[in-house]
Amino acid sequence: MENGNFYITTPIYYVNDRPHIGHAYTTILADVLARYHRSLDIPTFFLTGTDEHGQKVQKAAEKNNLTPQAHCDETVVRFKELWQKLEITNDKFIRTTDPVHKAVVRKILQDLYDRDLIYKNEYKGRYCVHCERFFTDKDLSGSTVCPEDGCGRETSEIVESNYFFRMSQYQDWLIDHIKTHPEFIQPAFRANETLGFLRNPLGDLCISRPKSRLHWGIELPFDSDFVCYVWFDALINYISGVGYGTDEAMFKKWWPASYHLIGKDILTTHTVYWPTMLKAMGVELPKTIFAHGWWMIGAEKMSKSRGNVVNPIDLIQTYGVDAFRYFLMAEMSLGQDAVFSEDAFINRYNCDLANDLGNLLSRVVKMTLRNYGGIIPTPQVETDNETDLKEIIRRAIPEMEEAIIGMKLEHGIAQIMNVVRAGNRYLEKTAPWTLAKNGDVGRLSSVLYYTAEILRNVSVMLYPVMPQKMVELRRVLGIPEGELENCRISDLNNKQNVLSGLQMTDIDALFLRIKTEEEAPAAAKPAADKSAKPAEVKAEVLPEGIITIDEFFKTQLRTAKVLKAERIEGADKLLKLQIEIGSEVRQLVAGVAQYYTPEEITGKTIVVVANLKPAKIRGVESQGMLLAAKDGKDLKLISVDGPFVSGASVG
Ligand code: MSP
Repeated sequence: MENGNFYITTPIYYVNDRPHIGHAYTTILADVLARYHRSLDIPTFFLTGTDEHGQKVQKAAEKNNLTPQAHCDETVVRFKELWQKLEITNDKFIRTTDPVHKAVVRKILQDLYDRDLIYKNEYKGRYCVHCERFFTDKDLSGSTVCPEDGCGRETSEIVESNYFFRMSQYQDWLIDHIKTHPEFIQPAFRANETLGFLRNPLGDLCISRPKSRLHWGIELPFDSDFVCYVWFDALINYISGVGYGTDEAMFKKWWPASYHLIGKDILTTHTVYWPTMLKAMGVELPKTIFAHGWWMIGAEKMSKSRGNVVNPIDLIQTYGVDAFRYFLMAEMSLGQDAVFSEDAFINRYNCDLANDLGNLLSRVVKMTLRNYGGIIPTPQVETDNETDLKEIIRRAIPEMEEAIIGMKLEHGIAQIMNVVRAGNRYLEKTAPWTLAKNGDVGRLSSVLYYTAEILRNVSVMLYPVMPQKMVELRRVLGIPEGELENCRISDLNNKQNVLSGLQMTDIDALFLRIKTEEEAPAAAKPAADKSAKPAEVKAEVLPEGIITIDEFFKTQLRTAKVLKAERIEGADKLLKLQIEIGSEVRQLVAGVAQYYTPEEITGKTIVVVANLKPAKIRGVESQGMLLAAKDGKDLKLISVDGPFVSGASVG
């Protein structure tokens, strides 16, 4: 954000494909990041689009008896409609068949050709039609099948004249740029992958295709017998989409891009071809190319041939748009692969959304309706409970900002869910139902007010992830219509006591709990969305003692930092610990006093079970359990290997 602005892009998707959760993931991720930046008052531009040239499109059009352009016009709708359904707020949708884009590509080609950075040569090599890539003998290492990740198709030998971009001359410069700009390729291990690739001599890049073989592309301005190689054309979308060569003021405003989000499979094109192309053009490089992992189905990749492609539309229809957005964002650790399963989806939905968030809202609404006719009271008598709660909320805001800026979105979301859980514990502890019974309106007013205040904060912080549901939640709180979508994180600290006097409305459930077959073996489980068909969850018979991964993940393991430890009088085996889990501070009672002194354990980063029902141990409340290994008389705490944040998920 050198110019103070935020410009984010997704890859432009092959227009031929049917969008699956992989495409939906990158686009939702870009959308969530764009929305967060807008909510922090940072000028933001979000670009997505479709990659429409090349052999696959030409072939599919021929098969359907359409011109390639007509074929693209038909298929692009799949993406546009899905993005609309998913509430994607892109500022522009670029198609590589847009006349402006084509003109920019031709201008760049002509300029590079005029400066002798593009030359003609005879080419001999093997070609993969599917990937539209040439390979040298070295790339193929003796084989004839395509070495691209996940391809493996037979390549064919080709001898032809073509145009080449003098990419090889930038090899040393690129290596140096990557080494001196650690933020350029993220996560860092991907930078190492590119550096590994650059250990071998970099060749020049073939940037043309003879029309005799492929006519569906941008014609080279200096030779009408050739069209431009589809990747050379496609990468340029990132600058043609923000005015390069057509609107200098716009280009200056948004370039260099803050983030090009890409999947790990298109790392080389983005971290080798693209920077060298920009260097040749004399254009600054994007600040960060961020490669995320893949959604896997079990241990397998998703692919049409395996028949395991997950269609976002099915999930949206069954569970709703926001639950789908939430799952994808909360479940994947940015940069790593993640496994998709409907069981994991339901589990997360039920734990986080139906139980934690949904229940907190239902409880406060019911109590406020019963005791105040739904009008949110002004807090009267405050205690340490409110001071602690305010502190939890206050700390969550910068932590969320940090998570966004550090591209640790799942961590930020986990922190917000910790605030929600702190809200539920606050209700348990302050027991407003008892306060109401005892007529303690001084305390009751505060408890209901602050619970609503947690929800208001959460609604702002989760709005970028679940825009529809957070608006619904805000409407229930009585926030005026005009302000429902006014969710600016930057305003959160300034707006105090805005809720008193608002009229809440009743709600059945913000997120209906989904019954799994384990809970209701004979009955079909109700769908989250009333109009939607129920999803099927099949009960699997497992050998005794074996659990599924989803059962394992019901246990929420988190890193925690021990802030304080003290002995409990009369209990020589127990220590009372104050631990920090992300933005939350909890009390834990642990049977470790014979192995660790309070001084030894203080400051350690340990692992705790974070979703254990609180219990009283020797009259002292324990909100969770720490993990330790025990062997006879020896006990050692389970910890993490080196310094680490608290609140991170373990598993
Ligand atoms: N058209 C090129 C990109 C050109 S960008 C200048 C392309 N298109 S694609 O439609 O095949 O892929 C788009 C993105 O989807 C890639 O980032 C790819 O990594 C991503 N995914 C494809 N399958 C995926 C998963 N299973 N999981 C996550 N993302 C995956 O490549």
